[in-house]
Amino acid sequence: MTVRLSRIQLALFFILLCPVNIIGLWWAVGSPLVMDPNSICRKAKRLAGKQAELCQTQPEIVSEVAKGARLGVRECQYQFRYRRWNCTSHNKYFGKILQQDIRETAFVYAITAAGVTHAVTQACSMGDLLQCGCEATRNRAPPRPPSSSSSGDGVKWEWGGCGDDVEFGYEKSKQFMDAKRRRGKSDIRTLIDLHNNEAGRLAVKLYMRTECKCHGLSGSCTLRTCWKKMPHFREVGDRLLERFNGASKVMGGNDGKTLIPVGQNIKPPDKQDLIYSDESPDFCLANRKTGSLGTRGRMCNSTAMDISGCDLLCCERGYREETVVFEENCLCRFHWCCVVQCKKCLVRKELSLCH
Ligand SMILES: *[C@@H]1O[C@H](CO)[C@@H](O)[C@H](O)[C@H]1NC(C)=O
Ligand SMILES: *[C@@H]1O[C@H](CO)[C@@H](O)[C@H](O)[C@H]1NC(C)=O
Repeated sequence: MTVRLSRIQLALFFILLCPVNIIGLWWAVGSPLVMDPNSICRKAKRLAGKQAELCQTQPEIVSEVAKGARLGVRECQYQFRYRRWNCTSHNKYFGKILQQDIRETAFVYAITAAGVTHAVTQACSMGDLLQCGCEATRNRAPPRPPSSSSSGDGVKWEWGGCGDDVEFGYEKSKQFMDAKRRRGKSDIRTLIDLHNNEAGRLAVKLYMRTECKCHGLSGSCTLRTCWKKMPHFREVGDRLLERFNGASKVMGGNDGKTLIPVGQNIKPPDKQDLIYSDESPDFCLANRKTGSLGTRGRMCNSTAMDISGCDLLCCERGYREETVVFEENCLCRFHWCCVVQCKKCLVRKELSLCH
């Protein structure tokens, strides 16, 4: 789950390759268990003006940013668990993915920006940050009843509770993730990365749900208070995976400032779509250049016909069956109060592993 990049690689990334500072973030978050903003910032300071500035003025936000990045990788690994590229954060290979402009890169950028938006906003609602809190509702239009209940039943609605201030998380994610290394140098890769960052943030911001609570005597509902909550992060991951599957290929226009969809009669991607410019490798074999670890030894599903099936996952190289026996907690019982006692059971499991 953690990302560690060698120093030399990083130096290279930052001097030559990294237009947007996601890699700076990865580096900073990289060492395991670093939750201490000072240490994140010591590293980030060497990298980029805007990030360093945030570090100096708002270190506690940076530590939420780091949590958000981790949330992003975890979700990436969940969403890609049955695919040839499984979002493994093996250091060298992950860095290679970030340097390209393939669909996988688009997903990583988007889910990271989304994770940061989510984590910072969450911290605001939990009261963990001085800079923000619950959403201010003073100047908002009165809530509309959720479509489920037909309105006009005389129930009064008010904003209340603790709404998530997603606007704050959105802005912080933008400040941190979209910080450019060199100003004014707009190349196509930068445009693509920024687009995907934004798509990730929007996957949180545009899908807020309204939660309400009834107030009134014994079950009557004379007043409802409502507040906005962010979508669960799993939902954000699901949505971005859909965008990954439908990602649009683009190329740079002649002016170097615009992106043009590739292919005829293709509708231009909207803000929530993921975009990429290069075709992905097949990820069948290990290849340092493309950041592919290959699928040898991967667990596959011998009955599934989709990408998790052995044919596709193992790239038709075949697979072997293996029986593994492991211990598991079973027959657990809860004793008042408060212990859970389990027995140990031996469980056999058939595994299919790619050749
Ligand atoms: C992801 O793939 C790598 C390399 O193929 C493998 O070592 C690792 O165990 C996989 N991770 C998961 C969670 O399946
Ligand atoms: C394997 O694939 C089948 C068919 O798609 C599915 O029902 C089953 O749950 C899968 N098994 C695992 C372990 O994912």
